[in-house]
Amino acid sequence: MATLAHDLRSPLWGGKQVLEHILGGKMGELSEELQSILSTLSRSNLRLLNMVKNFLDMHRLQAGSLVLSQARIDPGQLVLECVAEINILAKSRSQKITCHLDSNLRACRGDRDSLSRVLLNLLDNAVKYTGDGGTISVSAGNRHETVQITITDSGQGMSPEAIQRLFRPFSRVGSTSNQPEGWGLGLYLCKKLIEAHGGQIGCRSQLGSGTTITVTLPAP
Ligand SMILES: Nc1ncnc2c1ncn2[C@@H]1O[C@H](COP(=O)(O)OP(=O)(O)OP(=O)(O)O)[C@@H](O)[C@H]1O
Ligand SMILES: [Mg+2]
Repeated sequence: MATLAHDLRSPLWGGKQVLEHILGGKMGELSEELQSILSTLSRSNLRLLNMVKNFLDMHRLQAGSLVLSQARIDPGQLVLECVAEINILAKSRSQKITCHLDSNLRACRGDRDSLSRVLLNLLDNAVKYTGDGGTISVSAGNRHETVQITITDSGQGMSPEAIQRLFRPFSRVGSTSNQPEGWGLGLYLCKKLIEAHGGQIGCRSQLGSGTTITVTLPAP
C-alpha cells in the first residue's frame, strides 16, 4: 500500500501542476464550460493528493522513518501559501477565507513540508465541514515564546463526545452516509506532526456553531 501511495504521488503532483497552468490562463482563455470541468478535476486531484500524502506520512510515522528538518520558518508566509492553495476548494463552495497576521510574527523552526501539510489538512477540514457560503478565518500571533495559529470556521461544529476522540486515527464524526469523503487520518497526523515539533494542537467547537482549531508552536 505504501509503495502504491508513493507511486501515485508523482502523477497526481504532475496533474496538479498542469491543471494550475491551464486554469491560470497560461494556455489561452477558457470557455466557461471548460473552466468548470477543469476546476472540478483540479479539486478532486487536490483532495486525492492530500489523501495519498496523509497515507504516506502515516506509514512513515508507524515505521519510525519520518525525518523532520529544522529550517527557519516564517509562519505568516506559510499561512498565506497554504490559504492560497486551498482557496480553489473554498471558492468552489462560495466560502470566504480571511487572514489576520500579527505584525512582527516570531519565526519558528521546523519541517516546512510537514507544517504546511498540517495547515492544509486543517484548512481542508474547515472547507469540507462548512456549508456553501460559509466563512473561514485564519490568524497567527505571538503568545509569549510561541506562535499561535488558529483556524475558525462557521461550519457544522462537533459535540463534546466527538471532540474527545477527534485526534484518534480513523476517527470520523457522525454517520458515514452523509459525510464528505475522508479517511479520518488528517487530524491524527496533524497532532503527531505538531507534537514532534514540540507544539500542541487543540479544538473548541459547538454543534451547529463552527469550530476553532489552535496550533501552538515554540518560537524561542
Ligand atoms: N472543522 C471541522 N468541523 C466539523 N467537523 C470536523 C472539522 N474537522 C474535523 N471534523 C470531524 O473530525 C473528523 C476527523 O477529521 P480528520 O481530518 O482527521 O479526517 P477526515 O477529514 O474525515 O479525513 P482525512 O483523512 O481525509 O482528513 C472528520 O471526519 C469530521 O467528522
Ligand atoms: Mg480531514
